Amino acid sequence: MILVVGGTGRVGSQVVQQLRRQGRPVRALCRSESKAKPLREAGVEIALGDLADRRAIETACRGVGTIISTMTSLNPRTLRDRYHPEVIEEQGHRNLLDVARQAGVNQVIYLSAIGVEHPQAPRQFRVKRLVEKVVKSSGLPYTILRPSGFMENLLPVLPAIQRFRVAPLPGTGTAPITYIAVEDIARVAVQAVGHPEAQGAMIEYGGPEDLSNRQCVQIAAKVLGTSAWIAPIPLTLFHLIGGIARPVSPGLREFFAILRFVDRYGLCAPHHPPFSNEPWTPLTFEEFVRRHIR
Ligand SMILES: NC(=O)c1ccc[n+]([C@@H]2O[C@H](COP(=O)([O-])OP(=O)(O)OC[C@H]3O[C@@H](n4cnc5c(N)ncnc54)[C@H](OP(=O)(O)O)[C@@H]3O)[C@@H](O)[C@H]2O)c1
Repeated sequence: MILVVGGTGRVGSQVVQQLRRQGRPVRALCRSESKAKPLREAGVEIALGDLADRRAIETACRGVGTIISTMTSLNPRTLRDRYHPEVIEEQGHRNLLDVARQAGVNQVIYLSAIGVEHPQAPRQFRVKRLVEKVVKSSGLPYTILRPSGFMENLLPVLPAIQRFRVAPLPGTGTAPITYIAVEDIARVAVQAVGHPEAQGAMIEYGGPEDLSNRQCVQIAAKVLGTSAWIAPIPLTLFHLIGGIARPVSPGLREFFAILRFVDRYGLCAPHHPPFSNEPWTPLTFEEFVRRHIR
C-alpha cells in the first residue's frame, strides 16, 4: 500500500492518478470528505485527518510500505491563525515519520524544492529544508525530490495573452527557471517507489529548458497565434499588498516572497534524467501550452 499525503493537491493528485493507472493500491490522507470524494471514486482508500492528528496518521499508515508526501501548508488564502508552517510541516512530518517507523514503512518520498539551501531562501523554502532534515534523520529509508518551478504557475497568464494580448509578470521576468509540468514531477515520484537509485537520494530535476518568464510569454503568444505585450508588475507593489494583507493573510506575503526570490535568483535544475534506467522526455513549455489551449 502506498500512502500519499497531499493527494488532493496539484502534484499529489497526479501522483495518485498515475499510481492508480499502474494498478497500485493507494491510500490518501485527506483533510475533508468533500475533497476526498473524487479520489474515493477513483479507487483510492481514504484516511480522514491531517498531520497534526496522530490517530489519523496511525490509521493512514496501517499496512503501508511507501509514503509519498507532497503536502504544503502554503496557501495564499491561509488565515493568520492557521499559518504556522514550522509547526504544521516540520512537526507534522515528525508525527508522520514517528508513526511510519513503528508501522514498518520501508520508504519515505518527500517532495521539497530546488533552492531550499539558498542563503536568501524565503521562509517557505527554509521550512522545506527543515522537513528534509527531519526526513533524513528519521532512520527510515528516504528519497528527497527537489523539482524546479511548475509550468502550471504560468497558466493564469494565458487567458490575458489570448484576450488582451497582455502578459502581466511579477518583477523583471528575466531569471531562468527550468520549468517542469506537474505530471512530470509526479512521474518521478512514482518512479522513485522502490527504485534502487532512489534509496537515500536527493534528486534535483526540472523540465527540458531553462526559460525566463519573458521567454515563456513569447512561446505562449506564438502558440496562441498572437503577440503579447509584457506588463511588468513591480515587486515592491506585491511587497506592499502582502504587508497590508498580512493581518488577515500572512500566506499571501510568503507567497509573494517566493515570487521575489525566484525573480531575483531563478530556479535552475539539472537536465539529466532523474533515474538512469527510466525514459525521460519531459514536456516542453510549448507542448504544455498546446495541451492547455486544446
Ligand atoms: N509551485 C512551484 O513552482 C513549486 C516548485 C517546487 C516545489 N513545489 C512544492 O511542491 C509541493 C506540492 O505542491 P502542490 O502545488 O501540489 O501543493 P498544493 O496543491 O497546495 O497541495 C498541498 C496539499 O497538502 C495538503 N495539506 C495541507 N496542509 C495539510 C496538513 N496539515 N495535513 C495534511 N495535508 C495537508 C493539502 O490538502 P487540502 O487539499 O485539504 O488543502 C493538499 O492536498 C509543495 O511542497 C510545493 O511547495 C512547488
